[in-house]
Amino acid sequence: MCGLHVHIGSQILDVEPFAASVAPVAELAQFPVYDLGGGLGARYTYGDRPPAVGDYLDALVGAAREHVPADAELIIEPGRSMFASAATTLYRVVTVKQGSVTFVAVDGGMGDNLEVALFDQRFEAAIVDRLDATDGERVTVVGRHCESGDVLIEDIRLAGPRVGDLLAVPATGAYCFTMANNDNGNRRIPVVFVADGTARLVVRRETWEDLLARDVDHST
Ligand SMILES: Cc1ncc(COP(=O)(O)O)c(C=O)c1O
Repeated sequence: MCGLHVHIGSQILDVEPFAASVAPVAELAQFPVYDLGGGLGARYTYGDRPPAVGDYLDALVGAAREHVPADAELIIEPGRSMFASAATTLYRVVTVKQGSVTFVAVDGGMGDNLEVALFDQRFEAAIVDRLDATDGERVTVVGRHCESGDVLIEDIRLAGPRVGDLLAVPATGAYCFTMANNDNGNRRIPVVFVADGTARLVVRRETWEDLLARDVDHST
């Protein structure tokens, strides 16, 4: 045993809980290593104001200076805060159904983004051709997975969504790819890296053959 580890949670938008997590762990025993976990929040919505990395580190290191041995090694596990904003998911609008609520259905959903169903994570979205539109109607964006929980974004303003539009949902770089799944026989989506005007396929779209690849016996 060379150290202690603490992880207080994820998508934390305040530095205080990080600072407060150090003393109780340090009081348990002195070790050469303290792993202070992950948890720093990412900016998913216009309203999210995650702490700056410097402020997060100041809080952790400040608390560590106070409570753990001066020569102890500190480890952190930043994940979401580094990657969430690195990806945007593109969907095709496949249905617009008007009623007391306008539902905009897209060709993806909980198969590529489980964060909404599992954590109630809120996302923003915009129609790719009309990113600058300032007004729009209130709609609910839903997926194609045939589950009542397959809601991507409830009550968001979109500029005149029509069948065939591309819908961009930013901040999908964390947990979406790693939790992608084959719900209802869905094939997982590809990943494309884009930089300086060029695009590179890094994960190909899943095929029907992929879905059947583990079947070893088709005899009746
Ligand atoms: C032990 C541990 N370390 C790190 C993380 C990653 O945290 P984050 O969601 O901030 O990337 C998690 C996720 O909850 C975790 O359980």
